[in-house]
Amino acid sequence: MAFWRRIWQRDEVQSLAVCTALDIGTEFAKALVFEIDEAGLGTVRGVGRKRQGLSHMQSGTVADIAAVVDNCAVALQEAEEMAGFRPTQVVIGIAGELVKGFTTSHTQERPKPDIPITESELRRLIDGVQREALREAQRSITWETGLPNVDVRLVHAAVTGASVDGYPLSNPIGFRGRHVRIGIFNAFAPLVHLGALQSVAGQLDLELIEVVAEPYAVARLLGTDQVQQAGALFVDVGGGTTDVALVRQGGIEGTRMFALGGRAFTKSIADRLDLPFPRAEALKVDYARGLPGDQNAAVAGIIREDVEVWAAGVELVLEELAAGEPLPGRIYLCGGGSRLPEIRTALQGGEFWRRLPFARPPEVVVMGPDLVEAISDDTGLLVDQQDVTPLGLAWQAIELQSVEDPLEATLRRVVRAMKV
Ligand SMILES: Nc1ncnc2c1ncn2[C@@H]1O[C@H](COP(=O)(O)OP(=O)(O)OP(=O)(O)O)[C@@H](O)[C@H]1O
Ligand SMILES: [Mg+2]
Repeated sequence: MAFWRRIWQRDEVQSLAVCTALDIGTEFAKALVFEIDEAGLGTVRGVGRKRQGLSHMQSGTVADIAAVVDNCAVALQEAEEMAGFRPTQVVIGIAGELVKGFTTSHTQERPKPDIPITESELRRLIDGVQREALREAQRSITWETGLPNVDVRLVHAAVTGASVDGYPLSNPIGFRGRHVRIGIFNAFAPLVHLGALQSVAGQLDLELIEVVAEPYAVARLLGTDQVQQAGALFVDVGGGTTDVALVRQGGIEGTRMFALGGRAFTKSIADRLDLPFPRAEALKVDYARGLPGDQNAAVAGIIREDVEVWAAGVELVLEELAAGEPLPGRIYLCGGGSRLPEIRTALQGGEFWRRLPFARPPEVVVMGPDLVEAISDDTGLLVDQQDVTPLGLAWQAIELQSVEDPLEATLRRVVRAMKV
């Protein structure tokens, strides 16, 4: 606890720590202003949202820094006015296909199992894990961009589990045993994307305390025993991307994103019915809300075709994430794009699940802010699944700063020494 007190900037008047979470989405820039009390509990005091132009973002990543800064400034101002204060620190989410999140595990056989495990021994093990993870991220980003030597940076790292001789432990130091195993989740991103977020924060005059991979933030939001024990899949359907996270055996195993979201559906409607984009968007939203309309049948047909393509994308990603092992039976759905009823139907019905290692049709749960206990909302304005990702970012700002886990501390030291 003392740790975050040292880090958080404190508001003199309120005597509370305050912070801003910024979700720079393809469709909307979303800002949350929140405070953290003595016990580390977060409360949202202000929210703001600004729609982004079609050319401002490219599949979840910033394409025009100046325009994005303007949009974020509007969203921030709205949130700050509502809250009545202006934090100087911000946590920003990062998304996009080139953000690579995966867990790497290493097991080391100790030649002298009778000697207690020391911190330096653990540090060497973590160092090995991190080097392998970096190589893997570089390999996959190089392969996908077709460019050699793309600069890859570590966005964040977290320990997902440790054990000695198969015995799960929260801190192996001091234990004896032969096989030490450690798993670490890492998210890597190309420097160009991370740098753009740093520029946005700088131009908004905010101190960037943390960048978090968005699917990671969403998956951490539900800390229930149910999710911990049975695992879960998290699917965030945004405007430009769909983000997927897999939680299995208590920890996040991996995240994947692909560039297809609600905007693609709107674009199809605009193209096929020969309408301007805003008109097509309104038509889609009305249709999803079940409002009557002359063109509903045409819209339904277009969406059905597009959702089929989208579901094929999810299938591909899940197959990769599953790596042949059984997938958990529950899918949590969030993001504005998931408000189309067809999205939900595509995941729980039909043949979708049969082609994947699901034991039975997955249960699909819409993840609204009402399911979130980690952080509370005082504004009453966070009502639907579109607001979940910014809440996840706010929770990460609190969670990452408040843990005083010795393993995490060792991990941080290794990461600092690696300078990635
Ligand atoms: N009621 C609704 N019915 C159907 N679609 C909706 C509805 N409300 C919002 N959307 C769609 O949700 C999308 C925006 O969702 P969201 O705000 O989660 O995206 P984003 O975070 O900006 O994008 P991304 O996460 O891809 O970067 C838009 O495509 C919008 O059309
Ligand atoms: Mg989003």
